[in-house]
Amino acid sequence: MKCAIFGCGVVGSGAADIILRNAGIIKEKTGVELELKYILDIREFPECEYTPYLTKDVEKILGDEEVGIIVEAMGGIVPAFDFVSRALAAGKHVATSNKELVAKKGDVLLELARENNVNFMFEAAVGGGIPIIRPISRCLAANRITEVAGILNGTTNFILGRMIDEGMDFGEALSLAQKLGYAEKDPTADVEGIDACRKICILASLAFGSHVFPDGVHAEGITKITLEDVRAADGLGYAIKLIAQTKKLENGRIKILVSPALVSRTSVLGNVNGVFNACLVRGDMVGETIMTGPGAGKEATASAVIGDVIDMAEHAEKRKFFGWGAEKPDYIESLENIAERYFIRSEEKPAYITDLLTPAQLEDELRGLNVISKIRVFE
Ligand code: HSE
Repeated sequence: MKCAIFGCGVVGSGAADIILRNAGIIKEKTGVELELKYILDIREFPECEYTPYLTKDVEKILGDEEVGIIVEAMGGIVPAFDFVSRALAAGKHVATSNKELVAKKGDVLLELARENNVNFMFEAAVGGGIPIIRPISRCLAANRITEVAGILNGTTNFILGRMIDEGMDFGEALSLAQKLGYAEKDPTADVEGIDACRKICILASLAFGSHVFPDGVHAEGITKITLEDVRAADGLGYAIKLIAQTKKLENGRIKILVSPALVSRTSVLGNVNGVFNACLVRGDMVGETIMTGPGAGKEATASAVIGDVIDMAEHAEKRKFFGWGAEKPDYIESLENIAERYFIRSEEKPAYITDLLTPAQLEDELRGLNVISKIRVFE
C-alpha cells in the first residue's frame, strides 16, 4: 500500500522513518506492505533521506490513484481540514495525529469518511504512543463507559516534574520540553490546558457517542501553580497534576473539565512522571483500567499513527465501524452543579482539604479567609 505524509515536522518525519526503516518487520508481523511515495511540506529541507519523497504540491498527491493512505501530521485546522476532506473525498484513508482537527472537525470528517467508504483514524491524537482510542472503541466495546480521566499532556507533566524534582523554573523546563519535541507549535496550548481539553473532548465524544466541542469545556492550565502549592500538597500526601476528566452523570449529562488537581501520591496517576501520560477508563463491566506510556515525542506518536496505517491497509476494502454522532444540546453539566473537594491555602490557616462542596458552598466556606490557592482534588 502506497502512503503519503502531510507535514515533515516531528510526527511526520517520525512516521516517514518508521515506514523507511521498519517496512520489513511490519510485513513480517502483519503481512502489510507499506511504501512511502510522498511527503508534503512547503518548507525547504537540506538534502536528506526524505529528499526523494518531498513535494510542495498537494494536488499531485490527491490525484495519484496509487496513494491509498495519507498520514496527516501538519497540525492545526488550516490547511489540514481542507486537505484531509479532499483526501477522504478522493477515496483515500486518512490517519492523523492532529487533535485540534479531530476535536473541532471530527464529526464532519467521520461523516465524510462514511460517505466515501474509507476510514479516518486518530489513535495518535490522544496519549501519544499509548493505545487509547482503539481500546475504548474496540476492547471495551462491551461496556457502558462511565468515566475517562487522566494526564493527557506530556509537556505540562514534564514541566511540573522538573520544577518539583530539579527546582527548574517554569521557562527552563518549557524550553527543554520544546527542545525534546514534546510541546505544541504554540506552547500556550500545552500550558493553558487547551491541548488536554482537545484530547478529553475526543475521548468524551468516543466514550459517550456525541461530539463534544472544546469551546464549551472549562480548561485551565498550570501557569498559576507555585512551588509553595506543590510543597503544601506534598505535605498532605498529594501531587499536583494537570487532570482532564469526563464522567457520565445520572441525569444523562456529562461532567467534563481540564484543570490542575491534587492526586493522591499512593495512586497510579500520582506516580506518572516526565512526559508520560496515563488514562483511566471506567466501564460498567470491566471496572477501572489505566493505560500509561509516553504521551508525546516523535517516535512514540509516530508509532501510534503507523499502527492506524497498518490497520487501514489491512482493512483497505472494508469500513471500520468507528466514531460518534452529532453534538447534543444541554449535554455538558454546569460546573456550578458539581461538588468537588478542594485544597485550600490561605493566610490564616494551614493548607487543608475541604469536604465535597459545590462552587457556591465553597464560596461560603472561604468567606473571611485570604485565600492564596484553591485547587480541586481528583478522586
Ligand atoms: N504537546 C503535546 C503534549 C504533544 O505535550 O502532550 C502530544 O499530543
